[in-house]
Amino acid sequence: MFNLKDKVVVITGGESGIGLAVCTSLSSVGAKVVMGGIQADRGQEACRQLNDKGGEVVFVKTDVRDREQVDALVRTAIDHFGKIDVLINNAGVFDGFADVTETTEELWDQIMAINLKGAFLTSQAALKHMIPQGFGRVINVSSIGGLVGRADGAAYTASKFGLIGFTRQMAASLSHTGITFNTVCPGSIATDIRSNSASVIPSAAHLMNRGVGSSDPDALKKVIPAGRKGTVDEIAAAIIFLASDEASYITGHDLTVDGGYVA
Ligand SMILES: NC(=O)c1ccc[n+]([C@@H]2O[C@H](COP(=O)([O-])OP(=O)(O)OC[C@H]3O[C@@H](n4cnc5c(N)ncnc54)[C@H](O)[C@@H]3O)[C@@H](O)[C@H]2O)c1
Repeated sequence: MFNLKDKVVVITGGESGIGLAVCTSLSSVGAKVVMGGIQADRGQEACRQLNDKGGEVVFVKTDVRDREQVDALVRTAIDHFGKIDVLINNAGVFDGFADVTETTEELWDQIMAINLKGAFLTSQAALKHMIPQGFGRVINVSSIGGLVGRADGAAYTASKFGLIGFTRQMAASLSHTGITFNTVCPGSIATDIRSNSASVIPSAAHLMNRGVGSSDPDALKKVIPAGRKGTVDEIAAAIIFLASDEASYITGHDLTVDGGYVA
């Protein structure tokens, strides 16, 4: 397994889906985790379970749209564990396949605020500590929707393309500081993203249950060369690799984990 022992990791949206799988893996290899998210009950319960198994995990209720809350999230890593080694921007919401004609200005703004501006706010807060320490890993969770235009919504697609551009720019300008900047681009993964997104953006709830996403194996084989959806653990493994010491010379990369979909 990759070396992450005693690394201090801040992750957003860690209370469910891919984020929770990452927290579970990190905890099992001895990393210290500060989990930020908006679902406080779910986050506290996840922390309790991981800490019962010997983990060191703290939950901080954090809305990534809010700079003060983001600053408090990063400050918790410093106050509890003395540093921040890894930032994983995983919080994200989906827009239910809304094409440009269906996308309201409010939906556009919400998707951008969470999926793109959130990563900007957390990166600014974390880099204040990472640059002076001369070490860091910033990993942004984009999507195959950030690599190709497809049935995902207009705002989701723009935000996920934007996240890759933002990550590459940080890599180009700041990798000399000892920090690496990468994205992971998951394919289709079974999580609660639609219901979670509907509760964050109620005005878009009616858009969430249509479009692709069939779990029918025959339908999936036609669009995913691997013939199935991915699992949260398969995405977590890619994130853990990029966070590890072993990935020290990888920066500005988009790691696609999609069963061959984009191919
Ligand atoms: N599931 C997929 O098929 C898929 C595919 C490609 C990319 N992704 C990306 O993976 C990431 C994780 O998604 P998931 O599938 O695990 O779904 P999820 O809904 O389980 O995880 C998203 C997390 O973000 C949190 N969140 C939402 N709004 C927030 C806000 N304003 N502030 C802080 N936290 C907030 C949610 O509470 C949730 O814990 C997202 O960025 C998503 O876009 C998912």
